[in-house]
Amino acid sequence: MFGVKLQFSSLCLCLVLSGITLGLGQGVISVTEDSDVVLPCSLSTKENIEFKLFDWKKPAQKDQPRKEVFFYDAGVHYNNGHPGQSEEFKGRVFFSQKELKQGNASITIRNTTVTDRGIYTCVFPRLQPPQRFQIKLIVALILKVREIAGASPKPSVTILDHPEGGALLLQCFVQGAYPKPELQWKDNAGKNLTAAEPQVTERKEKDATRYDVTLQITVTKTDYYSCVATQHEIYHQITSDKIYASPKEKLIWLIGGLFLGSVLSALVVVVWFKRHQIMRTCREKVKLVRAEEGKTVVLPCSVKENIESNHFRWTKDAQENELPKEVFLYYKGNHYNNSSGGQSEEFKERVKHIQTELKDGNASIIITNIKRADTGIYTCEFPLLEPPQRFLIGLIVDGQGEDEDDDGATELSPLSV
Ligand SMILES: *[C@@H]1O[C@H](CO)[C@@H](O)[C@H](O)[C@H]1NC(C)=O
Ligand SMILES: *[C@@H]1O[C@H](CO)[C@@H](O)[C@H](O)[C@H]1NC(C)=O
Ligand SMILES: *[C@@H]1O[C@H](CO)[C@@H](O)[C@H](O)[C@H]1NC(C)=O
Ligand SMILES: *[C@@H]1O[C@H](CO)[C@@H](O)[C@H](O)[C@H]1NC(C)=O
Ligand SMILES: *[C@@H]1O[C@H](CO)[C@@H](O)[C@H](O)[C@H]1NC(C)=O
Ligand SMILES: *[C@@H]1O[C@H](CO)[C@@H](O)[C@H](O)[C@H]1NC(C)=O
Repeated sequence: MFGVKLQFSSLCLCLVLSGITLGLGQGVISVTEDSDVVLPCSLSTKENIEFKLFDWKKPAQKDQPRKEVFFYDAGVHYNNGHPGQSEEFKGRVFFSQKELKQGNASITIRNTTVTDRGIYTCVFPRLQPPQRFQIKLIVALILKVREIAGASPKPSVTILDHPEGGALLLQCFVQGAYPKPELQWKDNAGKNLTAAEPQVTERKEKDATRYDVTLQITVTKTDYYSCVATQHEIYHQITSDKIYASPKEKLIWLIGGLFLGSVLSALVVVVWFKRHQIMRTCREKVKLVRAEEGKTVVLPCSVKENIESNHFRWTKDAQENELPKEVFLYYKGNHYNNSSGGQSEEFKERVKHIQTELKDGNASIIITNIKRADTGIYTCEFPLLEPPQRFLIGLIVDGQGEDEDDDGATELSPLSV
């Protein structure tokens, strides 16, 4: 009876003491996942508590046992060696020494997670009368990349077709996700774009019904585009790589992953400054070709199928986030010579392919009047093949009269895209 009464009166007291925070708001604090939150606990007397004891706990709740959140006793606390703090709160809970002088025992919890949800108590057991504060913490989920069952993988984006009229048809695809993901195309500024209706296929598997979703969009503006997959039910959201679409010039390329970007930039540096070392470091990935200034060179590149009505594209020194130089482009009979604009100035009039070789899959190009500045890594891509293929060719231009060097060309190998 007495115990009940005491509890009741201290509950009233704490509501009064903590004023606004525990007033009509009922001591409820809301925070979004992954952010920091201050759980307030202040004595209305503002008495100095530097040499007092306060104890933050999370009492047992329906889904969790009791947790020791933070303990302070006259300067000894969990962050300076006092044992007993629950594992999940270690290194995440802080107080302000300065605020203690004003009777403020508030704590900050860093990087909140959903499991931090629940009731917290802040107790001063040795004060007369003892003081007890209670706060409810709500942690709201945000949309982010989650690694849980059914979460959509990163959407894959491709340029599907070049319909007449200079537009480009882009496709976004997600496989095997559940619940059904929603796809959204965005431009580089993050603006939502209106696409066609998504095509959805459903597959019943023993664990769940999985969804494959395709969303196509026709674009007419040169820009970087990306596709976002969202599953609101599980607060999962993931964005594709950016795809560069240049409808007018019919030029396309993907901003490759960090890996290719760093390989390429490393290679470019190597080609320029360490000509001899490149022979060893790049043997597996790059076919090397040497040429003399002023001469003509063939940059080789072939696949095993007829590419007369397909598409291939040569670029130079592709680097992440930087547009590569356009060396040559072939698209179903059209090429830089007779229709497509967009070729880099320095390659105009100097590059050709051999139309009759295309039926054998030979997309080699011939560059005339070689200059020293042509040294670099060239990429030969077949974006419309299934799977797409990409080859790297390193060109080293030797000045006339400079002494010749060893190995010459090495193995050509595709990098799968
Ligand atoms: C108590 O200290 C916290 C920082 O730990 C601060 O955010 C809060 O405003 C302080 N409360 C009062 C009432 O001064
Ligand atoms: C916050 O927590 C998440 C997952 O709980 C973790 O991935 C992230 O690295 C943490 N951030 C910081 C700044 O500790
Ligand atoms: C963009 O589209 C998504 C999904 O369709 C939607 O949730 C979001 O509110 C839209 N954003 C804007 C700025 O319209
Ligand atoms: C470009 O030349 C090819 C033959 O090399 C031809 O098939 C194509 O129709 C030409 N395109 C234009 C726009 O003239
Ligand atoms: C492209 O143009 C160059 C120079 O104008 C010319 O030498 C070459 O034969 C042309 N190639 C094709 C395939 O028409
Ligand atoms: C491909 O064509 C080039 C000329 O463009 C030629 O030099 C080369 O030998 C051909 N390669 C093959 C494998 O036929």
